[in-house]
Amino acid sequence: MHKWFAAATAILLSSGSGVAQEMPYGQAEYLNSCAACHGPRGKGNGALAETLRVPPADLTQLEKKNGGEFPYFRVYAVIDGRFVVPGHGERDMPVWGRQFLDEDVQVYGPNGGEIVAQERIHELAGYIQTLQQ
Ligand code: HEC
Repeated sequence: MHKWFAAATAILLSSGSGVAQEMPYGQAEYLNSCAACHGPRGKGNGALAETLRVPPADLTQLEKKNGGEFPYFRVYAVIDGRFVVPGHGERDMPVWGRQFLDEDVQVYGPNGGEIVAQERIHELAGYIQTLQQ
């Protein structure tokens, strides 16, 4: 398991999924997939924000709103989206776990694909942690 994980991460980071290599993967993926709604700095003011029924969350305040502790695993679960039980209404946010998995399975196969998809979500959750104010 550990070996797999390291190998998948190495593949992921070296291939870079076509994103710029100079910046950390989590940041590049964020700018690529999330900034349109959540804004370039996570303030919830992306270009698409006004078109949504539910305003995109301000991702810089998650730690503050959680009593000073960054809610890492909740953030991870919300980004993944595959295992979140819908509370009410529809989800405006894409289910990234499914989307990443669809892409990654084609490149790394069913087992590797799941591992790479999870690693991408971890990189995003880690990047969002760095945006906390
Ligand atoms: C189409 C617009 C859209 C995109 C693109 C989008 N989000 Fe969201 N996001 C939302 C909306 C709207 C919410 C608020 C609640 C909901 O609908 O689930 C949200 C909520 C969240 C939350 C929950 C915050 C909280 O209060 O707990 C996190 C974390 C998050 N998004 C991260 C991301 C990440 C990471 C990406 C990119 C991989 C992303 N979002 C892309 C619209 C978007």
